[in-house]
Amino acid sequence: MPRRGKNLHGDEFIRSKTNDELVKFIQTGRPAWDPANTRGVDMPPRGGDPTLSDQDIHNIVAYLRTLQ
Ligand code: HEM
Repeated sequence: MPRRGKNLHGDEFIRSKTNDELVKFIQTGRPAWDPANTRGVDMPPRGGDPTLSDQDIHNIVAYLRTLQ
């Protein structure tokens, strides 16, 4: 999404994290004030969808692995 998320194909951040770390990251997001944030734009917790279950997020992480 232009100016929103990042391109998650071949993403170094994803490659550098374990599945559990990625699940935690998606649950938490990365607010604009976080020093780790690179764009000054919020990555919302659970990708902005509070209805996503932890199992959904594990499935998303499995999908993200297929993009690397
Ligand atoms: C389930 C859906 C989503 C997943 C799995 C997801 C995953 C990720 C991941 C893995 C990163 C880190 C990439 C990196 O640092 O290299 C990221 C960053 C980011 N995401 Fe998401 N995202 C989701 C939804 C969203 C949505 C809906 C938005 C905006 C409304 C968003 C905005 C952002 C932004 C702005 C960043 C970059 C933060 C920064 O500048 O450091 N994401 N996302």
